[in-house]
Amino acid sequence: MGLTIKQTAHYVPPKVVTNDDLTTMMDTSDEWISSRTGIKQRHIAQDEQTSTLAIKVAQQLLEKANCPAEKIDFIIVATMSPDYLTPATAAIVQGKIGAKNALAFDINAACSGFIYALTLADKLLATYHCGIVIGAEVLSKLVDWQERSTAVLFGDGAGGVLVEQSPQAALIAEDLAAYGQDGDTLTAGYQPVNSAFSNDQTDKHKYYFEMDGRAVYRFATHEVPASIERAIAQTTWQLNDVDWFILHQANGRILTSIAHHLGVPEEKFLSNVAKYGNTSAASVPLLLDEAVTTGRIKRGQKLILSGFGGGLTTATTAIVF
Ligand code: ACO
Repeated sequence: MGLTIKQTAHYVPPKVVTNDDLTTMMDTSDEWISSRTGIKQRHIAQDEQTSTLAIKVAQQLLEKANCPAEKIDFIIVATMSPDYLTPATAAIVQGKIGAKNALAFDINAACSGFIYALTLADKLLATYHCGIVIGAEVLSKLVDWQERSTAVLFGDGAGGVLVEQSPQAALIAEDLAAYGQDGDTLTAGYQPVNSAFSNDQTDKHKYYFEMDGRAVYRFATHEVPASIERAIAQTTWQLNDVDWFILHQANGRILTSIAHHLGVPEEKFLSNVAKYGNTSAASVPLLLDEAVTTGRIKRGQKLILSGFGGGLTTATTAIVF
């Protein structure tokens, strides 16, 4: 018994902020952002929280699958930008869509989060029949909009899948890893100890994204190809058998470098980073749904899903769609 992906969906908030829009807020240019990242625009939430985006995805999934909410056994939301620390975003989704028989919890593995969650769903489906896995982020609230080195990179959005127990397992290999010793390379959302018993002097600005961009770049371009190769080694596939590589959309140059490292034609690496920027846990399911909806990804095709980012973490799955 294993996991099969029944449906995919995504939702992004309507407001679009272009690179040119950002030049009115900070000292940057479309040329700098496009040439270093491939990003042209991003969607930014105005009145919508992370749960709002996730709920829209969950509702679409139920509708597309023609599945009553009561049939859902579990809901996992991968996010690093939840509405609250508690309740979990997944629990808010569960309540709102009326999935009264579902257990619900969030996980945080930053940009690897959706793939971590998908592998957890695979384990849960040994017992349960049907679940929803969503990656959802409102990263704009973790961005210091005065800090050009990070502000230009991130965007908001959500994507997800409805998964079912199946005798023909679709998820055939997984490779998850964490590099906690390098966690300081990329931080956001610091929660100060601020009780009557402490005097935490940590800079309040640690709430916003802080990143050693070059170190993250090096990490991604070295560790992601290795993770993909470890996942492939668990299958009967060769790298060339893979129809599509659906990677976390952080930066177009990172995708080019990974394709080059692996010796795979870059055309097999789907990308929508130009439209959405880096949406962390949302990026892989958002790209997956777009490619399914436009007919590029077809049933039976071999996919590699791979994420990398905060933690630091990497995560890869090999899937027969
Ligand atoms: N506009 C104009 N100039 C800028 C901007 C900007 N938005 N940001 C930085 N600069 C300047 C810097 O101040 C610096 O100027 P200086 O040379 O006068 O000091 C110059 O541009 C070069 O800055 P670098 O940071 O060295 O630029 P680099 O070429 O390394 O590109 C980037 C930066 C795009 C962030 C790159 O390092 C990268 O892609 N890293 C990976 C980041 C990533 O993918 N992070 C997401 C991880 S996913 C997650 O878990 C959230």
